[in-house]
Amino acid sequence: MDSVNYNEREAPAGSSNGAGAGLKACQVQAIKNICQSFHNDEGELINILHKTQEAFGYLPPEVQAVVAGELRIPAAKVYGIVTFYTFFTMQPKGKYPISVCLGTACYVRGSEKIVEALKKELDIDIGGITPDGKFSIDSLRCVGACGLAPVMLIGDRVHGRVDALHIKDILAQYP
Ligand code: FES
Repeated sequence: MDSVNYNEREAPAGSSNGAGAGLKACQVQAIKNICQSFHNDEGELINILHKTQEAFGYLPPEVQAVVAGELRIPAAKVYGIVTFYTFFTMQPKGKYPISVCLGTACYVRGSEKIVEALKKELDIDIGGITPDGKFSIDSLRCVGACGLAPVMLIGDRVHGRVDALHIKDILAQYP
């Protein structure tokens, strides 16, 4: 994907159907390009959303509206897909997205304490992002590393047997 700064928002870029309000013209165009690369085919909606999320990091309603406009389908249909599949998100992620496993094995080994320590250390809630955009916190279900419970992911890196008392030291590893 081209290097466009998708995280900045500004005045409505204006598109024919009003979709894209709050996005830059280049951002709207980037979404259109992705749709066109799939021939604006409704059957490719999931692939289009994957590519769009890759480019933007997340799929807020204004981005979904552009996709819906390009594919000539109801915005509610796009919304339905985005909210159905857990790999799509409507929330912006940090440079280092943190995901705490709240699956059973991790939960009984104290993942709630990890969440509390993160919330306190970063001063944000689950689903939130730090003001500098560095960290975001999310939860997920079993990642298949129960032997390492409690588990926390930061980006692609798995942290196992996490001690809530060491959260500050772990975060310090991410510049
Ligand atoms: S429950 Fe957390 S990795 Fe399985």
